[in-house]
Amino acid sequence: MDRIVVSESGPLEGEVPIHGAKNSVLKLMAATLLAAGDYELTNVPDIVDVRLMADLLEAMNVEVDLAPPRCRISVPALVRPEAPYELVERMRASIVVLGPLLARYGRARVALPGGDDFGPRPIDMHLDALRQLGAHFDTAHGNIEGRADRLLGTEVLLEYPSVGATENILMASVLAKGETVIENAAREPEISDLANFLVAMGASIEGAGTSTITVEGVDELHSTDHRVVADRIEAATFLSALGVAGGELTLSGARPEHMDMLLRKLSDMGMQICATEGGLWAAVHGRLDSVDIATLPYPGVATDYKPFIVAMLTVASGVGIVTENIFGGRFRYVDELRRMGADIRTEGHHAVVRGCERLSGAPVKAHDIRAGAALVVAGLGATGSTEISGVDHIDRGYTDLVGDLAAVGANIRRCS
Ligand code: UD1
Repeated sequence: MDRIVVSESGPLEGEVPIHGAKNSVLKLMAATLLAAGDYELTNVPDIVDVRLMADLLEAMNVEVDLAPPRCRISVPALVRPEAPYELVERMRASIVVLGPLLARYGRARVALPGGDDFGPRPIDMHLDALRQLGAHFDTAHGNIEGRADRLLGTEVLLEYPSVGATENILMASVLAKGETVIENAAREPEISDLANFLVAMGASIEGAGTSTITVEGVDELHSTDHRVVADRIEAATFLSALGVAGGELTLSGARPEHMDMLLRKLSDMGMQICATEGGLWAAVHGRLDSVDIATLPYPGVATDYKPFIVAMLTVASGVGIVTENIFGGRFRYVDELRRMGADIRTEGHHAVVRGCERLSGAPVKAHDIRAGAALVVAGLGATGSTEISGVDHIDRGYTDLVGDLAAVGANIRRCS
């Protein structure tokens, strides 16, 4: 098993490329199931989850030629509308094939995803909404079996702006008969990216990026090409590395307008940030100040940023209170940070982080993608060396975290 070894680093200096968003490209790949033909996606990150989604599409008889940063996909007239457990279990986002399969083929068998390190991950809202569009579901032997005649547009009110549920409904409704209105829709930039892709395929969608999305169903869609939107979570990872190690970085390709609330919090902490022609520039000189943050659906501070913010707070000046409002169990990496000497107290959904001058390098384990990246970031501000295991989690979401950080001066390497 590979490990990442990080030593105290800084100041960081140089340019980091921001790749396409994991949380967008997986849904774009699923959306190709909506129409036969040849697609080309560009700005595709070179990450394990994209390979897994390619495997899932290939298991359905779709041809995928994956050569990041591009991915060519050829969808035949008939696919096998099944997502097997071996793949769904490895990547929960596989559930987004449900909407497109039901819309185009009128049936789908998708293994039920289990929980993960964030705690339980229910899909009740996905299923309720698809039922309202006319789908029927049975669950047996760990699979959801969905059936539908042509889906019928309707008004769907989500009790919570779930990203995955919004995506599944959007992909189902583009081929439904009549108008679908999604109320309390998720507003994440990845939803807008998916909507732009679907519109380029011939769909009629208004309001993506707002809480009300209106879709006028069409009879048929066609294939298209698309450039994947920049990964705001990858960008946040490098900003937090800068927050811990200091220095000046340019994030080329980043979209600062998708990270407003986070950038506001980082500037409250003392980071200098400005938008540039093709990305953003940021600088940190000296120790950051602590802030309080609460995670919320977009445009709030994303739950995926939280581990990085906690890593920054462990070495910031003062006390920060961090509140998790999206996923209950998302504090597991805190135990690992404590092994590095971090002063963090958790109570339910809250963490109180008291900043110290330096952490102390230790062997630690990544339990999920962002937690793993946060441990790498923490290692930049720790004396001695921090050895991170569970690197396979990090590979699920980062094209080359180690190489990109090393290129701007971090003391970091990967070893077997
Ligand atoms: C997506 C992102 C994930 C991010 C999350 C929130 C991908 C692949 N993953 O996950 O990185 O952290 O958005 O921004 O894009 N819920 C239900 N029932 C449902 C669906 C969701 O109760 O049917 C709950 C979840 O348990 C969670 C909350 O709603 O508490 C948010 O989940 P959701 O927005 O659906 O996240 P995902 O789409 O799974």
